[in-house]
Amino acid sequence: MPTILITGANQGIGLEFTRQYSAAGWSVVACCRTPDTADALQALAGDHARLTVERLDVKDHDAIDDLADRYSGQTIDILLNNAGIVGPYPLDDHLERQHFGTMDYAVWDDVLHTNTFGPLKMTEAFVNHVAASEQKKIISISSSVGSISEVTIPGIAYASSKTALNRVMTIVARELKEKSIIVAMLCPGYTRTRMVSENSLQYAIEPDTSVTGMRKIISSLTLANSGSFTRYNGDTIGW
Ligand SMILES: NC(=O)c1ccc[n+]([C@@H]2O[C@H](COP(=O)([O-])OP(=O)(O)OC[C@H]3O[C@@H](n4cnc5c(N)ncnc54)[C@H](OP(=O)(O)O)[C@@H]3O)[C@@H](O)[C@H]2O)c1
Repeated sequence: MPTILITGANQGIGLEFTRQYSAAGWSVVACCRTPDTADALQALAGDHARLTVERLDVKDHDAIDDLADRYSGQTIDILLNNAGIVGPYPLDDHLERQHFGTMDYAVWDDVLHTNTFGPLKMTEAFVNHVAASEQKKIISISSSVGSISEVTIPGIAYASSKTALNRVMTIVARELKEKSIIVAMLCPGYTRTRMVSENSLQYAIEPDTSVTGMRKIISSLTLANSGSFTRYNGDTIGW
């Protein structure tokens, strides 16, 4: 069976990806910052022999290199860059810290390191594991709020981190075409996780719906789609 490595696998969309790929029989390397307190993920690992939990903070580049070294010689069919932050929590108490006029640059720094640098560093560290695999896919969970043409939100830090992620990954897609690696960005839709504001929970879809849609897209991707940006329901998102 194929192997997928998922970052931020202990809750939200990452946990749901872990649940669904494990149920489908895949080998899953589920990375999270604090395995000791990742109760839902550990329970899942108890049920699936091919699910391995690894400690990983995507802001820690040395730890990423160490993990890639430990997996040296093992193939990874899909690298799934899922880990991300929107800013400090609780969300509704800190929104103005990424608005024009009241910008907190430490928040922006944290969001960029996590959402933009993290996926690129993961891709640099694991590119050979993916290149040696059968499916050869690098997927990053972006957001439609990174789309300049389609969405406007006041949250400068989060939106710009996803716009930058998209730009980075379109460059990487071009670089990796010669290795036959497919690089793609997906938007999960507004999904009920910690990231959703309490005030708009009623508009959110369930992680199950989002991840079911994204898995379908991932399975249908070919080199011809490399560099694409797609919503969980299959719609192409404008840049
Ligand atoms: N939910 C939505 O509506 C929505 C919409 C568009 C895009 N997205 C994207 O979907 C992805 C998953 O988000 P989610 O909605 O599932 O939110 P979530 O429930 O907050 O999950 C985020 C995950 O990322 C992990 N993470 C954060 N910083 C990390 C770091 N430095 N190193 C490793 N892991 C880290 C978190 O770990 P901890 O538990 O340790 O904090 C958590 O497991 C993100 O990239 C997000 O931007 C979500």
